[in-house]
Parts: sequence; structure tokens; C-alpha cells
Amino acid sequence: MAKGVVELLSKPKVVGKRQVSPRGYFLEVYLPLVAQKAKAGQFVTFQATELSPRQPLQVVDVDPQRGTFSVLVEAHNRATVELVELLEEGTEIFNVGGPNGTPFPVEKYGTVLLVGQGWGAAANYPIAKELLSAQNEVYAALVGGSRENIYCEEDYKKLLGEDKVLVHTEEDDYGREGGVSEAVEAFIKEVKTPDLIVFAGSPVGGEAVAEITKSKGIKNISLVASNMLCTGGLCLTCRVKVGDKMVLNCIEGPYLDGNAVDWKMVSFRNGYYWDLEKEALEYFINKLLPKLKRKKQKA
Ligand code: FES
Repeated sequence: MAKGVVELLSKPKVVGKRQVSPRGYFLEVYLPLVAQKAKAGQFVTFQATELSPRQPLQVVDVDPQRGTFSVLVEAHNRATVELVELLEEGTEIFNVGGPNGTPFPVEKYGTVLLVGQGWGAAANYPIAKELLSAQNEVYAALVGGSRENIYCEEDYKKLLGEDKVLVHTEEDDYGREGGVSEAVEAFIKEVKTPDLIVFAGSPVGGEAVAEITKSKGIKNISLVASNMLCTGGLCLTCRVKVGDKMVLNCIEGPYLDGNAVDWKMVSFRNGYYWDLEKEALEYFINKLLPKLKRKKQKA
């Protein structure tokens, strides 16, 4: 079989794992198909083992030459805790599907402010690169509860220049004080009114940014972090109301018209399974993980 075909059929494998915060890890994964095809704004779906839940994760970086791509995993639910606990450098991953979703619409907008809340900063990073190449003036606001939720700060500074990166935290004194609303308001007041705001983070953060962009008439393209199951347009779990239409976020998103998204509905639907999510996480940590660790020690 030709080398290229063998590469495309090979199992996804972790080739790098780097912890960057107490709960945050960058995984570099060998999977040439994704590394060669993924475009800014698209995501991949991970499943650590045959029994693991599926987890969509934004592609942060690609290296088509090496056949690898990187994602940020912030361990917060059973699927992400499994990825962090079970995948080490050299581990084969049961399944990685993708790239999924619609690439970000890269064009010349003018001045763009990318607002990344927590993990959203990593999600926006490939978009920053593309928007810069398309001759936009690009700024990044990185917002987190505390310093440990600020991701990719050095990468953004290298890419955009120190003066184009603004850091805000709500609970400690790293960077300036405040959340997403304060970050956007401060930028408009002290720098300029951008032509476009790109947001990635929680639906509550998305709603806060949309309130400002709608009132000021600023274009808004936001990542909508809705629940996803099949990530292929079959289960309807991910549907989001955008204006008067319901759209499948796994197909048309995850970056949608933030000014038209019904953010309250996204938050409501995400909270719907919260108890079951919590139960599944506790079951994995207390029952399955110790068993898997004992089995590994014996092997
Ligand atoms: S996640 Fe199943 S239709 Fe989108």
C-alpha cells in the first residue's frame, strides 16, 4: 500500500502532552488526515476508549509536515477527564473524527478583537493567524477567572505583538480586573470600536458580548459551545436558534452569528444534563479509574 494511504489509515496517536495549568493540557496528536485538512475554526471529536463519551475539541494548531495537530483539553467533565487521565505520550486513541464543522469565514474585516474566555483563547488562536494573514488589524483579549484560565498568552504576544494582547481576570490580580464585558468595554473605550468581535467561551460569556455588540452595531461571530453527541448532523442534540432558524451547530457552526444566537436557550439546554454529567464523572473517578490504573500496573 502507498505510504500516503497507510498514513491516512493509521490510528490516531498522542505524540506530545504538555500541562499548562492545573486542569489544562495540550495534546499533540498524529493523524495526517486531520493535520492536512483542518481549517481555522473547525473541531475534531475525541473518544479515549471504546466506552468513553465523545468530546468535541477545537483544533488549535496543525503541522501538516509532521502529520500532527494540537488541541487544548481542559478537564471538566467525564470525557475530558478521561482524555487527560488515560492519554499519555505514545498512547493510541480509540477514535478521533474530523475535521468537523464549517471553517471560520476568513476575510478582510478591518479591526478585529478576538475575545477568548478560558479555553476559548486557544480556540480563537488559529483564527487570529488567518485573520492576520488576511491583512486585518488583530487584537486579542484573554479573559479568565484567574491566571490559570489564561491560555496561549505568549503565543498571542509572539503573533500579534505585546501591545495587541489584553489580559483580564476576575478573581486574582493578574492582568486587568474584569470579565468579558469589562474587556470589551475597555477595548472600545481605550483603543477603538472594532469592525468585528470574535468570541469563544461559555454561552454566558457569549450572551454578555452579544449584548454589547448588538447595542453598538458591531459584527459578532461567536463560537457556540452547545452540547454535541454525534457531531455529524444526525442526533439534533446540538441545534441552536439563530434568528428565526434552528441550525445544526456541528455542521454550520461552531462559529455562528453571535448577534442572532439565542444564548439563553444554549445555556438552558447545556444545563439540562448537568446532574447526569456529574454522576458520570464521579463514577469514572471513583469506580473506573482505580480499576484501570490497577490493570495498567499489572500489565
Ligand atoms: S451533534 Fe448530532 S446533530 Fe449535531
